[in-house]
Amino acid sequence: MEKIQVKVCLGTTCFVMGSSNLQELMELVPAKYGDKVEVSGSPCLSKCNIDWEYSRAPYVTVNNEVVFEATVEKVMREIEKQLSYAK
Ligand code: FES
Repeated sequence: MEKIQVKVCLGTTCFVMGSSNLQELMELVPAKYGDKVEVSGSPCLSKCNIDWEYSRAPYVTVNNEVVFEATVEKVMREIEKQLSYAK
């Protein structure tokens, strides 16, 4: 099974909108999912430059899914959803 790739946006807009609260994912995800899921920081994911989405930062991607107004809980839920598809 290919690893699920989680990318936490570390760009300025997302940082200002609270992506630093998502740092917890860096420890939580490997502890919970081991090598099934890989989490990393990313430069701007180019989601913040779409006007209507501006206020929906911070962004995280879980494979091809975009989690907007991301919180640790929302990202963990998306990971669970994708892991259940992979079974
Ligand atoms: S700064 Fe996060 S999508 Fe641009």
